[in-house]
Amino acid sequence: MSAPSTHLTPEDLLSAATGLLAAEQDPLANMANLSALIFEALPDLNWAGFYLYRPHAAAPASLFTLASGGSGGAHTQPAHQAVSPDAKAQGDGELVLGPFQGRIACTRIAMGKGVCGTAARTRTTQRIPDVHAFPGHIACDAASASELVIPLVAHGQLLGVLDLDSPRKDRFSPADQQLLETLVAAFLAALPVAA
Ligand code: SME
Repeated sequence: MSAPSTHLTPEDLLSAATGLLAAEQDPLANMANLSALIFEALPDLNWAGFYLYRPHAAAPASLFTLASGGSGGAHTQPAHQAVSPDAKAQGDGELVLGPFQGRIACTRIAMGKGVCGTAARTRTTQRIPDVHAFPGHIACDAASASELVIPLVAHGQLLGVLDLDSPRKDRFSPADQQLLETLVAAFLAALPVAA
């Protein structure tokens, strides 16, 4: 499939996303291409990508294989796993940078911190018209002015978040939120399930 050369309508963006998800099963590859698709297809973005939830335990490769029982299995923690001091203090896991498009970003975000950590902790979409008015906003890029963060939750498991940033205030409309939530739902529906 060829990459879009211009901005896409919501319908065409969803259609392109569905095509990518139908062609490939590996969630890592799909997150990489979805980031690229979103970044190129939507105007006025300076960052689009994923943060993955790490419960201080899971090996990266196991994150997106859902337990067939639905509630998720226990994981063992590798001794070498790096954990930020913030997250260690909270003891409830953290977000780690995943596939994205844009400038170098913060690698670890504690649950409840910033817009991403809030979306992850509350499992609700955060549509923030002015990030500078958001208490605790994490400024990975000083150019960011508004943000849309959608939690990835499948079978009751928090897997991470999809994060979009814009240098334009109030960039994200309710229609954008609905579009990206639909795209996330398609991504989650395509995840492999362990037998
Ligand atoms: N601004 C985000 C941090 C992630 S970056 O924008 C890529 C936040 O407050 O959670």
